[in-house]
Amino acid sequence: MSNEQPATRVVSASKVEMTEIVFPTDANPLGNVMGGRIMQWLDICAAVCAGRHARTPVVTASVDKIDFLNPVPVGGVVVLLASLNFTGRTSMEVGVKVWQEDRLTGTRKPVASAYLTFVSLDPQARVPRAVPQVVPETVEEKRRFDAAKGRRDYRLKTRGLG
Ligand SMILES: CC(C)(COP(=O)(O)OP(=O)(O)OC[C@H]1O[C@@H](n2cnc3c(N)ncnc32)[C@H](O)[C@@H]1OP(=O)(O)O)[C@@H](O)C(=O)NCCC(=O)NCCS
Repeated sequence: MSNEQPATRVVSASKVEMTEIVFPTDANPLGNVMGGRIMQWLDICAAVCAGRHARTPVVTASVDKIDFLNPVPVGGVVVLLASLNFTGRTSMEVGVKVWQEDRLTGTRKPVASAYLTFVSLDPQARVPRAVPQVVPETVEEKRRFDAAKGRRDYRLKTRGLG
């Protein structure tokens, strides 16, 4: 770890909320947002979260299963919330939840969720570089940290690196 980086960083320091409106160019022929557009927004939101934690260039290494729960029509407001779940030495798992926000009531309906893994790189973006270890503070952050550790072990096993 370079002197410029702290050894640890709390989860709340890198949380991201991103808001989009579904335009006709985002929609499928049924008039709802395309799954691919949601995937793009997930990647962007999670990348900002990972970069905010690492303060280095980051790349998407993998995306776990994405569940699409409800459609969002053109004109709908989409809110994405990203949170840093877990850090390895150079990798980070980010969890993202996607919601549709009702403009009138402000209530939110779940749209999608996913876990993405990012790898921090050196300033020349050539080799992986260590990240500050994430410190979960709340009960929920600790629960996500423990669950993410299990998913990391599974990923390592299924990539033949476990
Ligand atoms: C991601 C990448 C940097 C990893 O490089 P690598 O040489 O395999 O690095 P290492 O084997 O040293 O692994 C580095 C870390 O990445 C993790 N990692 C590598 N491949 C991974 C994968 N497919 N899924 C999850 N984590 C992965 C390793 O577990 C390790 O984590 P740790 O340091 O926390 O233990 C490299 O594969 C890459 O550049 N891929 C292309 C990324 C890209 O173009 N993304 C899309 C555009 S942003």
